[in-house]
Amino acid sequence: MPWRALPFVLTKAHRPRWATEPREVPRVRNTLFRTKGVEQSIRDTEAPEHRLRKTLSALDLTVFGVGVVIGTGIFVLTGKVAKETAGPATALAFVVAGVVCGLAALCYAEFASTVPVAGSAYTFGYASLGEFPAWIIGWDLILELALGCSVVSVGWSGYLRSLMDTAGISMPQTLSGPSSGGAFDLLAALLVVVLTGILIAGVKLSSRVTSVIVATKVTVVLLVIGVGAFFVTGANYHPFIPPAQEVTGGSGLSAPLIQLIAGYTPSNFGVMGIFTAAAVVFFAFIGFDVVSTTAEETRNPQRDMPRGIIGSLIICTLLYVGVSIVVTGMENYRNLSTDAPLADAFKAVHHPFWAGLISFGAAVGLTSVCLILLLGQTRVFFAMSRDGLLPPAFSRVHPRFRTPYRTTILLGLIVAVVAGFTSIDVLAELVNIGTLFAFVVVALGVLLLRRNRPDLPRAFRTPLVPLVPILSVLASLWLMLNLPAETWVRFAVWMAVGVIVYACYGRVHSRLNPDVAARER
Ligand code: ALA
Repeated sequence: MPWRALPFVLTKAHRPRWATEPREVPRVRNTLFRTKGVEQSIRDTEAPEHRLRKTLSALDLTVFGVGVVIGTGIFVLTGKVAKETAGPATALAFVVAGVVCGLAALCYAEFASTVPVAGSAYTFGYASLGEFPAWIIGWDLILELALGCSVVSVGWSGYLRSLMDTAGISMPQTLSGPSSGGAFDLLAALLVVVLTGILIAGVKLSSRVTSVIVATKVTVVLLVIGVGAFFVTGANYHPFIPPAQEVTGGSGLSAPLIQLIAGYTPSNFGVMGIFTAAAVVFFAFIGFDVVSTTAEETRNPQRDMPRGIIGSLIICTLLYVGVSIVVTGMENYRNLSTDAPLADAFKAVHHPFWAGLISFGAAVGLTSVCLILLLGQTRVFFAMSRDGLLPPAFSRVHPRFRTPYRTTILLGLIVAVVAGFTSIDVLAELVNIGTLFAFVVVALGVLLLRRNRPDLPRAFRTPLVPLVPILSVLASLWLMLNLPAETWVRFAVWMAVGVIVYACYGRVHSRLNPDVAARER
């Protein structure tokens, strides 16, 4: 099971053997686009100091996928977008987001089965597009993984508060977080601190615990669909696509970029509202690409990786469509809660027992998503540090726990503070733009690698190349354009900081820098 591979079991904290052995220095004309090479990437993982155990099967990956994918997206954002942007047509938004992810999954699957190395899109990018694009992806993945963890912890806090509420305990408003009109989300920050401790200690969760967590989450989702269906009122579906409504107030930058570019009056609902909603609920699908970060730990990555990625994506899309149809049928979309909409829909039909059960299951399930995202982030930092693009401290492990404790503490604290002080929609939109950008780069990478390295064995080949990768690029760009203009500004600032860090550190210290390579020989 994936969780067996959770702790970083690295045998030596000091300089790895591959760093001291003579090796070929790649000849490159433009150092910004020097590529690491697929064979080099695979060789690095075979060094005993960096070898991860290969234990995962296709079924493990699917469970892992469902374990990380189902989370705050369906449990929280469904209510928010139904209420503010799409109404009952939220189900269609999930279909749109599912199609975008499906196209990306076909590209990710080819990459993951060709370059079975930890580090996700970052590693794939290094092997195909070159160092600078890879750095950009790695930097961008921080948005997806670290901020994604903040989003999920805020969602978790909403459900815990709903559960406490059912039990008659209420949290002071000021500690309920900015998403609920408070100042600081205490519960979300506490969750991240506890999970950080767990990751540092390298606590191994048994496969049974994992299975129980994933089963609880899926059961809750099925329960919402199965039980909730009895409380659906047909009238709540009229109109299924609410007419477009002009947005009043707020800065112009809060409108989707596409509406500003096309000169529309910024509006919610209507057909465009479905795409705006899709760009937000896209968050619900994030994680299937994280499955590809475990390629190095998969027994037969060539066969199992595509099965795991695509399998989990199909299961999740079906569940999401089911949940959003039922929830918007149980309660009029205008009245849905934005903190814990699935549980609160049951409170609205006067069934607090079911609401309590759902809140409990959601809180249990969201914990695993948070943990996996935080873990994923440490893996990407590890891969980047292994390549010299980040300081070596990021891959230094604790002498006793054998886990990258410094990275984990640093990231854990940042994630906790961000989760405490930032509202969930601002965070989710930033995570989404970062992830969609990574999808664009991966799809382009498939095309480039097919052209530059047609000889590489590919157990899974993306169908209809170049059509599918091109459609994937266009579909991801389309969703990006449906995110608010201010999200684009934040994203641009983040990426600009990344470029500066690369120019000042990564470019100089990269192990592909001929000077560094010469020193290592
Ligand atoms: N897809 C995950 C969620 O919705 C990240 O929480």
